[in-house]
Amino acid sequence: MNISIIVAIAANNAIGKDNDLLWHISKDLKRFKQLTDGHFIVMGKKTYFSLPRRPLPNRTNMVITDIPGEQIDNCLMAYSIEDTIRKMEPADENFVIGGGSIYRQFMPYADKLYITRVHKDFEADTFFPEISLDEWKLTEKQVVDDDPQNNFTYSFEIYERTTK
Ligand SMILES: NC(=O)c1ccc[n+]([C@@H]2O[C@H](COP(=O)([O-])OP(=O)(O)OC[C@H]3O[C@@H](n4cnc5c(N)ncnc54)[C@H](OP(=O)(O)O)[C@@H]3O)[C@@H](O)[C@H]2O)c1
Repeated sequence: MNISIIVAIAANNAIGKDNDLLWHISKDLKRFKQLTDGHFIVMGKKTYFSLPRRPLPNRTNMVITDIPGEQIDNCLMAYSIEDTIRKMEPADENFVIGGGSIYRQFMPYADKLYITRVHKDFEADTFFPEISLDEWKLTEKQVVDDDPQNNFTYSFEIYERTTK
């Protein structure tokens, strides 16, 4: 299965607090939409209910829950990591979009990471795991240091797996 993780991470690996994001970066939201448009997106139930607009349009929204048989309108449901992988689209790139618990569990299965690296520490309750450079190679990096909407710089980075 072709699995990618997409996430925005602070310098201290923070990704969320109180079931919300830590920043508003319009360019990042635009990139997220461009990359995921038309594809499967996979998320934990907490992330799903944190979305301001849900399900996200023009994408197959797959929501993971431990509650057997639970259904959410207009979403595909999955009840374990194995079940999620089985239900993904084999002929396409599948995007894991969060949150913390789902990223951690999908790291061993991912082939590619789309990281937005925010060059500032944030106070948080949810974190992304360490990206080991023994397993991952940085293949693209674009620094944004002129965004008038934010008082920090950030980079769009792509990592590809070197070992599995
Ligand atoms: N910075 C970013 O790019 C980014 C992206 C996305 C999310 N976030 C942030 O991440 C935070 C949410 O992350 P989170 O870790 O608290 O929650 P989460 O991963 O979004 O969702 C957790 C829920 O997913 C279900 N789940 C997890 N593992 C499962 C498994 N193996 N089998 C079945 N169900 C499973 C459970 O649902 P049930 O309770 O129903 O069983 C669990 O309560 C928020 O702050 C959000 O804003 C940040």
